[in-house]
Amino acid sequence: MASTVIVGAFWGDEGKGKIISYLALNDKLDFCVRTGSVNAAHTVWMEGKRYALHMVPAAFINEKTRLLIAPGANVHVAKFFEEVELTKVNGRIGIDKFSSIIEEKHSLQDRTSAHLKGLGTTGWGVGPALEERARRTAKLAKDIPELKQYVADVTKEINDGIDAGKNVLLEGTQGFMLSLFHGTYPFVTGRDTGASAICSEAGVGPTRVDDVIIVFKAFITRVGTGPLPGEMSKEEARKKGWFETAAGTGRDRRSAPFDFDLARKNARINGATQAALTKLDCIFPECRSVRNFDELPKKAIQFVKEVEEKSKISVTLIGTGPAALDIIDRRK
Ligand code: IMP
Ligand code: MG
Repeated sequence: MASTVIVGAFWGDEGKGKIISYLALNDKLDFCVRTGSVNAAHTVWMEGKRYALHMVPAAFINEKTRLLIAPGANVHVAKFFEEVELTKVNGRIGIDKFSSIIEEKHSLQDRTSAHLKGLGTTGWGVGPALEERARRTAKLAKDIPELKQYVADVTKEINDGIDAGKNVLLEGTQGFMLSLFHGTYPFVTGRDTGASAICSEAGVGPTRVDDVIIVFKAFITRVGTGPLPGEMSKEEARKKGWFETAAGTGRDRRSAPFDFDLARKNARINGATQAALTKLDCIFPECRSVRNFDELPKKAIQFVKEVEEKSKISVTLIGTGPAALDIIDRRK
């Protein structure tokens, strides 16, 4: 698979963690680089246990993958240590020397600043930490004594990896509609969440990426405030079996049906070369754990075809359950 970017298509929580965990195992990832910050939780199931990761890359599930945190990312030091311990990845995880640090004061500012009121932020402090970075007063990973053994030159490692033909995955966080530049401003996060920004945060030039996989979920969810076209009531979502709570904050997720126009628009702007479609089993329960496309019920096949026709992109990976291997891989 060489170098691949994973980007979320909508408002986050599309199932990027699940897709990455599958690629980590199946494509034998050599490197996985996490961007963004602690506000995003990526869910990975391993041996029947659920992990909601805020800092450690979702590819931890493959013991041979080198895990890295991008120079453009924001590191929450306590959460980092907690998850390194939980996932037992000490010895194969590195943080770029220029990654910035999110501190306790940022979380307090997030929850009390007048200018952030009403945006429905996660409260982790990511907005204030990014404000501090733009002011050039942020602490960097290289300045934190506790992180000394983890500090790495991530950009060099991954570009060397790309030169050597290794499999490198750049792990985007959140979704494109939460992008500071392209999303539902001001109800967005504090950074661009698109494919180009993921490359920029990691330090990989646009000519060095082979694939951009945009992750669609079979229905749309959003947490926090801001517009959600086609939003349905919580009761309706419950009836359909679409009701979810956030992996990170536990907040109720709002939901809406799949949006074909938005899928097409975002696949184009992100330069997607393939799409993953997750949670097909939530809208068609008979799909649960199916691993061959031909075994899907007719209406599910029709839905996938409609997604491909209307978004003008091939759906190569289809999620049919929460475990990493609950997937239909049509790349083969
Ligand atoms: P912030 O990123 O915490 O500043 O929150 C800004 C907006 O992005 C709020 O609507 C959050 O709910 C949303 N948001 C931030 N991170 C995630 C995520 O990982 N998944 C879904 N929504 C998120
Ligand atoms: Mg999430």
